[in-house]
Amino acid sequence: MATLRLQHKRILLIVSGGIAAYKSLELIRLLRKSGAWVTCVLTKGGAEFVTPLSLQALSETKVYTELFSLTDESEMGHIQLSRTADLIVVAPASADILAKMASGMASDLASTVLLATDKPVLVAPAMNVRMWEHPATQANTATLVSRGVAVVGPDEGPMACNEFGFGRLAEPPVIVAAIEALLLGKRPLAGRHVLVTSGPTHEPIDPVRYIANRSSGRQGHAIAGALAALGARVTLVSGPVEIPTPAGVDLRPVETAAEMLVACAAALPADVAVFAAAVADWRTELATLKLKKVPGGAPPELKLTTNPDILATISQGTPRPRLVVGFAAETNDLVANAQAKRARKGCDWIVANNVGEGSHVMGGLRNEVHLVTADGVETWPELAKTEVAARLAQRIAEALT
Ligand code: CTP
Repeated sequence: MATLRLQHKRILLIVSGGIAAYKSLELIRLLRKSGAWVTCVLTKGGAEFVTPLSLQALSETKVYTELFSLTDESEMGHIQLSRTADLIVVAPASADILAKMASGMASDLASTVLLATDKPVLVAPAMNVRMWEHPATQANTATLVSRGVAVVGPDEGPMACNEFGFGRLAEPPVIVAAIEALLLGKRPLAGRHVLVTSGPTHEPIDPVRYIANRSSGRQGHAIAGALAALGARVTLVSGPVEIPTPAGVDLRPVETAAEMLVACAAALPADVAVFAAAVADWRTELATLKLKKVPGGAPPELKLTTNPDILATISQGTPRPRLVVGFAAETNDLVANAQAKRARKGCDWIVANNVGEGSHVMGGLRNEVHLVTADGVETWPELAKTEVAARLAQRIAEALT
C-alpha cells in the first residue's frame, strides 16, 4: 500500500500552457495516491492542451478556469482559493506565467491567485529551450527565487519542438519529492553550507589553446540543484560549462584547477563538500604569445606540471567539511580503483562511475554509479543524472542528521 505522506495536505495546482500540460494529469494522480487534496486552476493556455474534465476526473473536485467564475456567491473568492491551500504548485509553469508572477500582474485567475496568496509557491518551468535560456526568463526566475519561490527543473532532453536542451518539465515523481520537501518540512539541509565543484577545467597552453576534457558539468550542477532543493546554501565552483546554473545556487565560475582550488578554499567553511569536477591533472606553462608553426620545424613540446589535487587538499586540510564526497571517473577496475582513491585522498565517500568507451557518461544525461563508503559499496541502477543527484542529496541529508 502506498504511504500517504501527503495525507490531508491541500495543494492548489495551477496548470498553465504548454505541451507538458498533459503531465499534470500524472502529477495529480501521484498526489492523490499520496493522500493530498488537489484543486486545479487551468489557464486559458493550459486549456489548449488538457481539458477541465480530465483534471476534474483525476482531482475529483471542481476545476477553476476563469476569474469571473469566482464571483458567483456559491463559489469561494480568489483570495480564499489562494489561502485555503497549504501549497501552490505551478506545473507546468510557462514563460508567460513566470513573467506575470515576477512583474506582479493579475490579469487572469492564475496570476491573481498567485499575487493574492500568502502560501508557499513551487514552480516547475516547462518551455522551449530558447525561451528558458532567454535573459528575460532567467531574470524572472531569479526574481521569483529571491522572493522565496521554490523551483523544480526544468530538465534537459529532446523537446516536442524538435530541439534539445533545458526546458522539459521535471518528471512528476521529482515534482512530488519537491512538494514533500516543502510541505513536510523536509528541508533537512536548511542552515547548512555545501560546496560543490563541477565541470571541466581549462588549462591554457597559449592565448588561443587549452587542455580540457569532455565533462559537461551536468552531474555536478544537478547535485548542486538537488542540495539547494533540500534547503542547503550551495556554493558551486564550476569550470567552463554550457548549461544553466541551477536556481538558488551561488555560482563561482573558474577556468583552471589552480583557480578552482582558490575558489574552494575561499568558500570554506562548509558542512559538506562534493567534488564532482573533472579537474585536469596537469597544466602546462602558459605561452604569452600564440605558438606558431615553424615551416618544416618540429612541433612544440608541452612540458606538463601536476595540478594541485583539490579533493585531497580540502579532505586533508582545515577547516575540513564534516562530509567530503569525491568522484572517481574510471575506465577499468571501477570499485577497486574508487576504494583506493577514497583512502588515498582522505574523503568519506566516493561516487564511482564508469567513463569507459561506450558508457556515454561524460557529456551524457544518464549515469550508473557505485557509492563507496566506509561501510561498503552500494550499486545504484542506471538513472538520469538528476535522479542520481536527488538520491545523493538525500543520502547526504541523512548522514548529517
Ligand atoms: N580531483 C580534484 N583535483 C584534481 C584531480 C581530481 O579535486 N586535481 C577530484 C575530482 O573532482 C574527483 C576525484 O578527485 O572528485 C577523482 O578524480 P579522478 O579524475 O577520478 O581521479 P584522479 O585523481 O585524477 O586520478 P586518475 O586520473 O589517476 O584516475
